[in-house]
Amino acid sequence: MGLDIGTILIKVVEITKTKGAAEITRAGVHPTPEGAVADGSVLDPSRVAAAIKEAMRAGGIRSNEVYAAIAGDDVVVRHALFPRMPREELAQAVKWDAGAYIPYPAKDASIDFQIIGSPAGSPDKIEVMIVAAPKKLVQSHVETMQLAGLYPLALDIQPITLDRVFRDGNAETSGFYADIGGGTTDLAYSEDGVLRFTRIVPIGGNDFTAAVAEATGRGIDWAETAKRRSRVPVPSSTAVAGGVSVEDGAFEDGAVEQALASVGARLALELRRSLDYCNAQARTRRGVDTPLASVILTGGGSRLAGLAEFLESSLGVAVSPGNPLKNVSLAKGSRLADVLAAHGPSLSVAIGLALRGVEDS
Ligand SMILES: Nc1ncnc2c1ncn2[C@@H]1O[C@H](COP(=O)(O)OP(=O)(O)OP(=O)(O)O)[C@@H](O)[C@H]1O
Ligand SMILES: [Mg+2]
Repeated sequence: MGLDIGTILIKVVEITKTKGAAEITRAGVHPTPEGAVADGSVLDPSRVAAAIKEAMRAGGIRSNEVYAAIAGDDVVVRHALFPRMPREELAQAVKWDAGAYIPYPAKDASIDFQIIGSPAGSPDKIEVMIVAAPKKLVQSHVETMQLAGLYPLALDIQPITLDRVFRDGNAETSGFYADIGGGTTDLAYSEDGVLRFTRIVPIGGNDFTAAVAEATGRGIDWAETAKRRSRVPVPSSTAVAGGVSVEDGAFEDGAVEQALASVGARLALELRRSLDYCNAQARTRRGVDTPLASVILTGGGSRLAGLAEFLESSLGVAVSPGNPLKNVSLAKGSRLADVLAAHGPSLSVAIGLALRGVEDS
């Protein structure tokens, strides 16, 4: 079972391996209690635990062993080179090294690492991916799971799960992913199966809603509905008027669309910066210039109509929604199909987590 405790929505997905093939057998969602999760931390473990149980009940999931993930600004991912040395020594060296670039005292951090391998031409060195997160953040997740009666088998970092969901089978492919959640957009770039880049952009689906509310002077609930019925206009036609009809008739001047486009433009700018950064890093690493040509979108915020097209024409690279069923099939059952139809893009992280369980077993 994979568990994704989002700011907006809690998702649980159960994957079963039958005859060598991974299949989603159950899935459920439940709204996250308002304000109970912020910046990746669970602020109210008991209310979130109750919501997890609701999501499990909704999906008919009974298992109690779970793969979960942490995310947030304070989760730091770095790559570093070390001289070749035994694993225990490396663990010590990593601890020392991590202290230099985590923005909080190393004694307050949970630190883990994964050996990536020797860089080309340097057999005496090993490249290591180091992950650090505040102990308090990790503890808030563990406590929440325990309160929900769950036993965490492993804690991933969210960006790592995306490549598992969208990669081409078992091939070590490359992909640039943008998980547009409620509060943030999490970017991840995997190259040849190695996570090379992660970044959290503080713009998410809720910012589109807030911009609509502000531009129209209406409440957040109205704005959320209007957003879901509207479309981000293609960049050049932003100025073209013509409102979309929302409940009480057409909205003048395309104020909703303009609000959506202005947040879209901010998001595009951040994506551009990160693509440029990844391209520059890849050039240094590989000595060849092959700029990234595509971005895969996921997360509930990616369901905003017209957003992929908007980003594509702003960025000049192909932008398309990721298929959460790329590497896993769906068991028969209409209820399951309904959950996927209603929440597909929101389920990616939970699917990636459950897939880890299948890989590990
Ligand atoms: N049909 C839709 N059209 C536009 N936006 C949508 C639609 N459905 C959901 N959203 C938006 O998706 C966002 C929630 O996405 P998601 O479930 O991925 O968030 P989360 O994982 O809980 O958040 P985070 O990853 O930031 O913790 C909300 O901002 C919501 O408005
Ligand atoms: Mg999310």
